[in-house]
Amino acid sequence: MKNIYVTMPTLAPLNEVNEYFQKVWDSGVMTHNGPLLQQFEREVAEWHGVSNHTVVVNGTIALQLAIRALGIKGEIITSPFSFIATTSAIMYEGCVPVYADINPDTLNIDPAKIEAAITPNTVAIMPVHVFGNTCEIEAIEAIAKKHNLKVIYDACHSVGVQYKGKSIFAYGDVSCTSYHATKMLNSGEGGGCFTNDAELDAKMKRIRFFGFSEDKTNIVEEGSNLKMTEVHASVGLANLKYLQAALDDRKEKYMLYKRMLEVNPTLHFQKINEDSCNYSYFPVIFDSEETLLRVEKALQAEHVFARRYFYPSLNTFKDIVPYVEMPISEDIASRILCLPLYYTLAMEDVERIAKIILGAL
Ligand SMILES: Cc1ncc(COP(=O)(O)O)c(C=O)c1O
Repeated sequence: MKNIYVTMPTLAPLNEVNEYFQKVWDSGVMTHNGPLLQQFEREVAEWHGVSNHTVVVNGTIALQLAIRALGIKGEIITSPFSFIATTSAIMYEGCVPVYADINPDTLNIDPAKIEAAITPNTVAIMPVHVFGNTCEIEAIEAIAKKHNLKVIYDACHSVGVQYKGKSIFAYGDVSCTSYHATKMLNSGEGGGCFTNDAELDAKMKRIRFFGFSEDKTNIVEEGSNLKMTEVHASVGLANLKYLQAALDDRKEKYMLYKRMLEVNPTLHFQKINEDSCNYSYFPVIFDSEETLLRVEKALQAEHVFARRYFYPSLNTFKDIVPYVEMPISEDIASRILCLPLYYTLAMEDVERIAKIILGAL
C-alpha cells in the first residue's frame, strides 16, 4: 500500500520548468538578483495586485528582513500557535517574543490579549494568518495605531488570499510569505516581503544584497546575502501558472473532508473567514489528546501520515523562551491534527481518510 503524507508539493510539469532552466543555462546567470528572480518577484506581485515584493531565500528570512528593515528593537507581540520560525525570526533579530493567546475558534491571535500584553518596550505585533485564515485585521491595526506599533504579518500560509477586495499581502507595514515546498506556491525554498511603502521595499532589496547602495559603490545598510537563486526562481515561475488550479483544488478537497467529518459532533474545525482563506490545510480538533493519538495510530496503520501541527505550543519551548502559560494555545495544540491535503491527492483518498477517522472514533 502506498504511503500518504500530510502534504506534497504542487509542481508544474518538468518540461515547463526546464524552459526556465534553459534560460539560466543560456545566460550563465545563476544568482545575484538575476532576471528570473526579478520576473518571479514581478509576476507574483501582479498575480496578487500588489506593488512591492522582495523575494528572499525563505519565509523565516522574510520575517527577519521585515524586522531589520523597520529598524525595530524591543518586544514583539506574537502568536504562541504557530511554527517555530515566527518566534525564531524575532529572536534572531535581537527582539523579544511576547505571546498573546489565541481565539479558540479561529486559531488566530486574540486582539484583546494583544492589548493586554503591551508594555513600554513593545515595538511591534507579528500576527499569523493561521492555516491561511485571515486574522482580525481591523482590530489589530487599531491597536497598532493607538500604541504606535509596527505590524508585520506572518502570512506564510496566505498565498492567494484576498481580504476586502485586496490581497492579504497589502495589509500591515510588511506582510511576509513563504514559497517553501509545502506551501500553496513553491519555489523549493523561498520567501517574500510585501509592503505598500516603496522606500521600505528599496531598503529591503539593499539589505538582501549585502547592503550595497543602488549604484553598488557603497555599503549603506547592515546587509547580508538573502537573495533567491535563479534556479529556485525558475521553479517558482513555472509553478505560479498552476496557483489558481491549486487553490481551487484545495478548496474542493477541504469541503469534501468537512462534509464527511462534520457528521461526528465530537470533531471541531477551525472557524473560517469564508471570504478570506485559501483552505491550504485541513486541521481537525479532537475532544482530547487521547482521541487524537488513537486516530493518528489508526491512520498510520493504513499508511496515512497526518501531522500534529502546530505542536507543541511555542510558549512551551522552555529552552528558548521563559514559560508563560497560554491555556488556549496549549490546549488546541495538544488536540489538533492536520490531514493530508495536496494537489495530487485523489478525492477517493480524501474519502478513505475521512472514513478511517470516523471508524476510529
Ligand atoms: C506560520 C509559518 N511561519 C513561518 C514559516 C517559515 O517559512 P520557511 O519554511 O519558508 O522559512 C512557516 C513555515 O514553514 C510557517 O508555517
